[in-house]
Amino acid sequence: MTIIASNFKTNHTRKSTALFIEKLNNYLLQNSIKNEVFVFPTSTSLDKFNTISNLQIGVQNAYATSSGSFTGEIGTFQLNEFEIKTILIGHSERRHILSETQSQIAKKYEFYKSLGYKIIYCIGEPLEVKKQGLEKTLEYIYEQFDGIDTNYENLILAYEPVWAIGTGVTATNDDIKNVHTAIKKKINKPLLYGGSVKVENVKEICEIENVDGALIGTASWVIEDFIQIIENTK
Ligand code: G3P
Repeated sequence: MTIIASNFKTNHTRKSTALFIEKLNNYLLQNSIKNEVFVFPTSTSLDKFNTISNLQIGVQNAYATSSGSFTGEIGTFQLNEFEIKTILIGHSERRHILSETQSQIAKKYEFYKSLGYKIIYCIGEPLEVKKQGLEKTLEYIYEQFDGIDTNYENLILAYEPVWAIGTGVTATNDDIKNVHTAIKKKINKPLLYGGSVKVENVKEICEIENVDGALIGTASWVIEDFIQIIENTK
């Protein structure tokens, strides 16, 4: 069973998100698709969506708190309103653009783990590290597991090389296979690939050894394309 996840990042409105999820839910229902599907809308577009069990809605980010004085952040007090039980942690945009440190990420991970959230935990190296070869790449990735309990039962991993995110440059099949095989040997959890996955390449990528699915940004934001991505991997 392939896992397919859409990360909206900072895209879509409440209205277009609701429509997207409604169309997706109907498609999954009518076609009895077995894939496990996730959508991560913006926090402002969360709602108590009435979805079938293999479609899960998650939050792209939240603070390690229930409530309190953390300007600009949301916690479980807000997430509970929408029955959200899935979170993305460690995304490269949060690590590199928002400067989240490994210790902040580990704290967040521990908090949401303690509440039983399903966690999609992202790892991946920047271009300058990739250029130094596989060994250095793995070394860099393993440091992103500092403070992370990888035995957690509700953990899904996503390998997203930073240089492949939103660039149109997908990692080669060999790159993906080598990194995924090495990570899997260490941590036996579902492992998604992310980074310029699209309708045209998703099937091939999901068939690579030790790839359990895809975490998709840009190519997943139009519902018809996202449905086609699922069609290509069902
Ligand atoms: O989380 C998904 C992601 O970062 C990949 O983005 O636009 O390259 O599919 P994109």
